[in-house]
Amino acid sequence: MNDLQSLEVTSLDELPTPCLLLDQSKMVANIGKMQAHIDSLNASLRPHVKTNKSISVTEKVIENLAVKKITVSTLHEARYFQSHGVNDIMYGVGITPQKLPEVADLMAKGTSISIILDDVSVAQTVCAEGEKRGITFRVHIELDVDGHRSGVLPEDPALIEIGKILQASNGAELVGVMTHAGESYDCPTTDAIVEMAEQERSRSVKAAELLRAAGIECPEVSVGSSPTAAFAQNLDGVTEVRAGVYVFQDLFQSGLGCSTPDQIALSVLGTVNAHKHNKNLIIVDAGWMAMSRDRGTASQKVDQGYGLVVDLDGNPIDDLILVAANQEHGVIGARDGGPVNFDTLPIGSRVRILPNHACATAAQYENYKVHTGKTVTAVWPRIRGW
Ligand SMILES: Cc1ncc(COP(=O)(O)O)c(C=O)c1O
Repeated sequence: MNDLQSLEVTSLDELPTPCLLLDQSKMVANIGKMQAHIDSLNASLRPHVKTNKSISVTEKVIENLAVKKITVSTLHEARYFQSHGVNDIMYGVGITPQKLPEVADLMAKGTSISIILDDVSVAQTVCAEGEKRGITFRVHIELDVDGHRSGVLPEDPALIEIGKILQASNGAELVGVMTHAGESYDCPTTDAIVEMAEQERSRSVKAAELLRAAGIECPEVSVGSSPTAAFAQNLDGVTEVRAGVYVFQDLFQSGLGCSTPDQIALSVLGTVNAHKHNKNLIIVDAGWMAMSRDRGTASQKVDQGYGLVVDLDGNPIDDLILVAANQEHGVIGARDGGPVNFDTLPIGSRVRILPNHACATAAQYENYKVHTGKTVTAVWPRIRGW
């Protein structure tokens, strides 16, 4: 047992609630499944750690990777993981000039960090800043392969223009192209995700080829979202895949067909504190502060409310969901509005609630209570902030 200093009890029956639970064997299975899939397609993984924000989790995620590399969503994550010895990092949010000194600091500490950009003027600023400091920023050009958000279209002349600006300067070097096919989250079927994965791959490889044809070196093609990673059938030309939420899985991923609810490693432990017989509802001490406000599954075929209610062994209870949530009150009801069996959940009894969105729910907490069955085996800290 490690990291249990702050834990006085080791049973799910006794933990103070609400708290965040992490089922270690489910997490390990999710990690292994994705890694085997990406290995089978001859690409490597650069896991996104924005979901877990924890060195204890990330060590498990990267322990069997040939290259221990990660993607981060904040420079705070970059500093934290660097301080724990992870030195190959992509900062996967468009760089802004005022963040370059922080990036330079990380480089000075020996981190191989790459930044992303999709704009000619930002490329010029990065080059100038690198030249001024006598350092070479490592850059990926961000691509728009699906109209989801930022990025240069592969056929936009700005792609080559940015490539040439980086090539001409000692202040920056082009490491490759990168994209995140976020539209995969809106795909209505798994067939559509398969197509989106191929679109993500082919459009990114095309961009790299256009750069190479223009005489610009483009060693890396980095793609990824958890859905496209899970459903990719071909990764020819892709060097690495970035995904993060697959490590925990969540109800939204289940709604997409990327996992099943029983593969979800993350849950919130709550205690029943009231029965509302007149309203056919049960109140639990896990409201939206414990679950997050994320209602992502509202747009899917199966709306899971604020989360799916399961017992301490992880089995669904009578198709109960968190139908509503106040700050510290979760409202449990039957998904179909039917009668609730109050005897199943007496006041003082415990439930686990599977989250809609693992990133958002985990973000509410400072640590994970890691458990195997009903026994807590460790407390793993996580970070927050920017
Ligand atoms: C830059 C980047 N790469 C990869 C991902 C993949 O992460 P997820 O596992 O959440 O799909 C994301 C998600 O937002 C991202 O922003």
